[in-house]
Amino acid sequence: LRHLVPYTTSRSTEAVQDDVSSRVCSSAGGDKPHGKNEAVDVGTAFHRNHWPHILSRKQYEAMYRWSVEDPQSFWGSIAAQLHWERPWDKGQPICSYNFNLDKGPIYVKWFPGGRTNVCFNALDRHVLSGNGNKAAILFEGNDVGIDRRLTYQNMLELVCQIANYLRSLGVKKGDTVCIYMPMVPELPATMLACARIGAIHSVVFGGFSAESLAGRMSDCRPKLLVTCNAVRRGAKVLNLKEIADKALELCEKKEGVRVGQSLVFENANATKRSDTAWKNGRDVWWQDVIPRQSKNAPVEWMDSEDPLFMLYTSGSTGKPKGVMHTVGGYMVYAATTFKFTFDYHDDDVFWCTADCGWITGHTYLAYGPLLNGATCVVFEGVPTYPDAGRCWQIVDKYKVSIFYTAPTAIRSMEKEGDRFVKKYSRKSLRVLGTVGEPINPKAWWWYFDVVGDGRCPIVDTWWQTETGGNMISPMAGAWDLKPGSATLPFFGVQPVLLDEKGREKEGATDGNLCIKAPWPGIARTLFGDHERFQQTYFSTYKGYYVTGDGARRDEDGYIWLTGRTDDVINVSGHRISTSEVEAALNAHPACAESAVVGFDHEKGVRSEIGGFAAPDVIHWATGLPKTRSGKIMRRILRKIAANKLDELGDVSSLADPSVIDALIKLKGK
Ligand code: WTA
Repeated sequence: LRHLVPYTTSRSTEAVQDDVSSRVCSSAGGDKPHGKNEAVDVGTAFHRNHWPHILSRKQYEAMYRWSVEDPQSFWGSIAAQLHWERPWDKGQPICSYNFNLDKGPIYVKWFPGGRTNVCFNALDRHVLSGNGNKAAILFEGNDVGIDRRLTYQNMLELVCQIANYLRSLGVKKGDTVCIYMPMVPELPATMLACARIGAIHSVVFGGFSAESLAGRMSDCRPKLLVTCNAVRRGAKVLNLKEIADKALELCEKKEGVRVGQSLVFENANATKRSDTAWKNGRDVWWQDVIPRQSKNAPVEWMDSEDPLFMLYTSGSTGKPKGVMHTVGGYMVYAATTFKFTFDYHDDDVFWCTADCGWITGHTYLAYGPLLNGATCVVFEGVPTYPDAGRCWQIVDKYKVSIFYTAPTAIRSMEKEGDRFVKKYSRKSLRVLGTVGEPINPKAWWWYFDVVGDGRCPIVDTWWQTETGGNMISPMAGAWDLKPGSATLPFFGVQPVLLDEKGREKEGATDGNLCIKAPWPGIARTLFGDHERFQQTYFSTYKGYYVTGDGARRDEDGYIWLTGRTDDVINVSGHRISTSEVEAALNAHPACAESAVVGFDHEKGVRSEIGGFAAPDVIHWATGLPKTRSGKIMRRILRKIAANKLDELGDVSSLADPSVIDALIKLKGK
């Protein structure tokens, strides 16, 4: 992907300097623009040893136009930089699709007729081009002092051994493999081994309950489960094998689904082998079988549209959805978004704190970085152990230059105070990123000023499990930032704001965020339920992919995400986004974070322009109901606010269900 943009490398230095200096902006050092439309420029401070891939909004716009007007040549020239065992058919459109249910079933196809393998592109390609000794994964254990370094060569050998073992069990192309593991290098290695042999992986976050794991396994019916004895997270030991065992039993008893084998990675740092409950005939220790395998394993060449993985994500109703991604499009999109969003260069060290159990861990830990030959940190622990400075200790230790995390983690570190950050130099940092939720300006400024010392652009990346990769975000260093805005769409992404009748709204406005045409990373279906896929994403507005998020576009064309459309509050006809009210509350020094929901007013409530958005009731609480990935479950808060305690629904995905009782008590007072 290095020489993708011909005019980046061929442009003269003067032209480059012109571009950059025209963007120097007075607001960066002085007064902080907390207002919505003032921009923060970090252009000149940002450059280190190289120019960013994208230098200016002007250059971005030219490339963006190219990407939407001629996807054939745009995506074609990018995809050609990866290895295809058989190139896609150049005589056919690079993408064919139907987004309109009136015209028949929904489908999307990219790179027709092409054959490739994601694992080959992520590992073999770098080893074959002489980069086998470059570090692929820098593993940092939960406890300080435990670490491992795996080169691309090491990773390739490990992945081949896993692949050979899977094959010896009869796992073949199209079979599913469920992975329930902590954040050790063997987790991404198992994902890549599946990709190598064409098996479909289904990673379940190693913090989900036995019931959740059982539900997912009985849906995807894996040939085997790959798990681990236990893991230390912070001061706690989590016995994954006990949970996995219970899930396997539940699966068999309740659903009649028998999973043939449980392959157990021995994490000797957590518990002892001798302490592990064991079922002969079903359970196999990883360390007894994997190291014995050959370090060479042939690649299964896959069609572009063959499935690569599925990942369950919770819907607002019903059981979790197995979002399916395919080989060719996902590979190209993961690689490209990683390169441009984070402005990745060869000498960067990348750290994404997300667990592989989420899409962020798939795209920006396992696949995107390795496809680009990047070195990345894999961290087993939590950001606040042994203290709130752990992240910055790790940043200094590995000279991390790109750091990617979630607003909820930023707020939890902010709450502990600046001294934990200031203790470490952090001078290797160059780019900061966030994902998962709108980031409120107070947290943004803390991240920018305190963590980044005012010199690192923040890429606020908006995307979804279903989109495969980043959709709307800054490209690091390319254009001015506004705290709280995800700014502009990625190449090939055509966001539109629709009114309730499904009409596109122009100019500065707000509406339902939808996407007009397919990008390579879009999910192709839900596992075993294409009808639900069509209904969920394509039935509300005909002809569009419906994101379910609300958004606003300002005068500069910047996009501001305002939360899920079902979280929108309507007060006397005014649509108010939860995230905007939350940002206002969070701006107060006494408030670490907040969640806003609507509740029924008595009729005839006063309404004042300006005053109408003020909260009626404020409850102070020690914790909010959050999913394990850090998203606030406002659905639960709405029920508590409305006193409908028997309608709280499924709370199994909450990280800490005890906060509910605390909230109910508080409300009673
Ligand atoms: C929300 C995570 C605002 C949004 C990659 C989306 C965001 C949902 C942002 C998808 C952001 C994610 N700003 N909101 N930068 N990133 N969201 O599937 O509501 O876990 O629809 O994918 O998270 O969550 P998911």
